[in-house]
Amino acid sequence: MIRKIVKYGDPVLETPTDPITDFSDPVLKDLVEDMFDTMYSAKGVGLAAPQVGIPLQLTVIDVSAGEDPSQKLVLINPKITGREGSQTGEEGCLSIPGFREDVTRAKKATVQAVNLEGAPIEVTGEDLLARAMQHEIDHLHGVLFLSHLSPLKRDLIRRKIKKLVKAGDW
Ligand code: NI
Repeated sequence: MIRKIVKYGDPVLETPTDPITDFSDPVLKDLVEDMFDTMYSAKGVGLAAPQVGIPLQLTVIDVSAGEDPSQKLVLINPKITGREGSQTGEEGCLSIPGFREDVTRAKKATVQAVNLEGAPIEVTGEDLLARAMQHEIDHLHGVLFLSHLSPLKRDLIRRKIKKLVKAGDW
């Protein structure tokens, strides 16, 4: 089921999320399926639970955008445990549609998390996967990619969004 993606301005996007402790609840599996459906329909490569209004430490990622099922990644209670190098490239966010800006991130990132069964996993990714993991894990801390921009660029985007909100186009 496709869920509604929460847009910038909703406080849930800027509130740190809670860890997941109950892995037996079937609602969790449904939520993950819905998040993949929602992400694919919006043509994204990552989606974090707060983006569908759920303040939990859960994110789904698929850098193949649905082309390769082996790339589907579910990260629950994730933590970045390693960062190497740096990359600068254009980044966007499904909760901030229409705005893309260069963001500098680690080129390679290692993440420790648990999977849907509650078993520990470790994922190391480079380039787009590293960028996606860093972006999505930021979401779980209530941090948006705007925070990585210069104050000038950030204020410009905020002003544009305010206008869109006023016009009823957000
Ligand atoms: Ni995002």
